[in-house]
Formats: sequence, structure tokens, C-alpha cells
Amino acid sequence: MMFIDTANINEIKEALKTGIIKGVTTNPTILRKGNKPRFNQLDDILELGPGMLFVQVVGRDTEELYADYLKLYDYGISKGKAIGIKTPMSFMGLELVRRIKEHDPETVILGTAIYSADQAILSSIAGCDYLAPYVNRMKNCGLNPYDEISRMRSFIDERGLTTKILAASFKEASQVTDALNAGAHTCTAPLSIFKLMMDKDAALSAIEVFNCDGESIG
Ligand code: E4P
Repeated sequence: MMFIDTANINEIKEALKTGIIKGVTTNPTILRKGNKPRFNQLDDILELGPGMLFVQVVGRDTEELYADYLKLYDYGISKGKAIGIKTPMSFMGLELVRRIKEHDPETVILGTAIYSADQAILSSIAGCDYLAPYVNRMKNCGLNPYDEISRMRSFIDERGLTTKILAASFKEASQVTDALNAGAHTCTAPLSIFKLMMDKDAALSAIEVFNCDGESIG
């Protein structure tokens, strides 16, 4: 199962119809495009029954980040729905993960802004349930995202850790396949990427020929 990386209600609706979506991931930049306050957008998304909804905490130090987590936690309680927490994984993120898990061990944490296996290793040990390596952004930095994902996966598997790699940041369809092939357990991508993965010109042409032939024989 995959995740959709958007806060666009129409795109989430369309994606949910496919049956391949386990949940929705957002970040502050994605939510900023919505032109509505954060909690109003979250209300709209939750009404769709999107599976797990991940929301990123915002803050410049651990106290601010933890305070934002508590806001999201209380919001989830008020909606009767657990909100998955995206925690930015700088060094500061390690303490944040510890505090969140102490407050509620059931809170599902997605460690985000992962650009290297180094970050992933400590984030996994800290207790992140998921890790989001940023595939396209890593490429833009001259890094090989697939080598890093493969190293993350080896570390997780060899130690029997339960962390799942939820690869993110995709600009090309083949990047999703390459990330999964390198060892990502799942991916989050915009709707446009899922369409690019399926609507290959050759496949669409073949389907059109079948339709024409089928119609011609009644
Ligand atoms: C998801 O966890 C990330 O925030 C997102 O995929 C980043 O994508 P971008 O590189 O397209 O902004």
C-alpha cells in the first residue's frame, strides 16, 4: 500500500478510489498551498476517511516542536482519530521522538527530512515507526538515494528493527520503482506520479485498440 503526498482534497478523493492508498502525508509547504488554516484543512482531509494522516510538527527548538505535537495529539483525540506525527530528523529530532513516545507510545512517528543512512540509523534506534528519505531532493544534492535506502534497509533488517522506510520526494515515476527496489517498504507520492506510473503511452494505445476492436464486434 502507498501514501499520497498532498493536502488537495480532490486529489485525495481520486487516489482513495484506487484502493492502493494507506494514508496521506503532508508537510508545512504542502499545507501552505491550501490557503486555509492548518486545522481546517486537516478537518477536510479527515472527513474523507484517508487512513493514517501524517502531519509535520513545526518549531525551532524541542519545546516548540513538542508543544506542536501536543496540539496535534489533542486535535486527534477531539476527532477520535490518531494523527501520525512527522518529526524533522535533525539531532534535535531524537529527543523529540523520545518525548513523544514517552507521552504516548502508540503515536505513530514518521521521521522526515532524511537525506542519509546516518540519519536513518539513529532515527530508527530512537523509535521512529517510519522514515522518509527524500529521493529527488537527495539526487539534487548529488547523493545516490538508492544506495542510502539500501544501507538503511540492511541496518533495519539485520537488527530486527520494526522501522519502515516510507520513501518520499518524487519527481519521476521511475524513482518510485527504484526506491522500492532499493529497499523502501512503501512510498508517498503526488497523484500525478501514480498516474505517470500507470498511464504509459504504449499501454494507453494498446487499451484504445482493444476498445476499438471490442466496439467493432458489438
Ligand atoms: C514527504 O514526507 C515530504 O515532505 C515530501 O515528499 C517532500 O517532497 P518534495 O521534495 O517534492 O517537496
